[in-house]
Amino acid sequence: MGKIGVFDSGLGGVSVLLALKRVLPKEKFIYYADNKNAPYGFKSNAQIVRLSTEIVDLLIEKGAKAIVIACNTATSAAVDSLRFRYDIPIIGMEPAIKPALAMGGKTVVLGTYTTLKNDKLKELIESLKPSEKLVLADGTRLVSYIERLDLYSDEFNEVLLDVLQYHQDADNLVLGCTHFPFIKEHIYNIMPHVTIVDGHMGTAKRLKKVLELADLIEDNGGSIEFYSSKGDAEAKIARKLYELNLGLKLF
Ligand code: DGL
Repeated sequence: MGKIGVFDSGLGGVSVLLALKRVLPKEKFIYYADNKNAPYGFKSNAQIVRLSTEIVDLLIEKGAKAIVIACNTATSAAVDSLRFRYDIPIIGMEPAIKPALAMGGKTVVLGTYTTLKNDKLKELIESLKPSEKLVLADGTRLVSYIERLDLYSDEFNEVLLDVLQYHQDADNLVLGCTHFPFIKEHIYNIMPHVTIVDGHMGTAKRLKKVLELADLIEDNGGSIEFYSSKGDAEAKIARKLYELNLGLKLF
């Protein structure tokens, strides 16, 4: 009776967990939010590898048969190290640039500093050979507001406007950080005509395929355990946001 371990630097990965559960409703999941160390987006790759390794060790101790890195930043910094160290399936995430480019027009990728600067994103963009305009926007500053659920203050809206101010003409916006589905409505307020793209369902379908190929699919009740490096209260917030389908206004 194995579980699927899912982790992120904080609450962001809950948006991925919702997609994973939709695709694999009968699997048991363990969600770990490293809220104490968020944001990862300004951290070095070495720091992220250390933090991610500690989390994967913990998830395996708690019965994980596979791991989903529900974090673009941790994937870009640590996925190769984690796959080298562990022999269980490890699924990572990358910004959903390919589907966005397929729509044509100008695309902006909203990600964290570390995701945007790491080779993995550069290699992905080179492989896609974009003919249309593709720009990168650093949204790392937004993460700590989302972690505090401070999304309706003037300060937050000023920061978001500052992040997006040069990209309001974009046709497509890629949510290159799993925290950003929490602020879709805020983005639409600034860019009402943009098409927002994220890779969450793609990640969920990839997990299912990997589990099928490894003969690891199980029907074991579908419960979810939530943990946080900040303790039980923060873990409860992650569970609540999951149950509310990220409905912050209902929070
Ligand atoms: N949610 C994570 C991502 O997808 C990281 C955000 C952060 O901690 O900076 O990149």
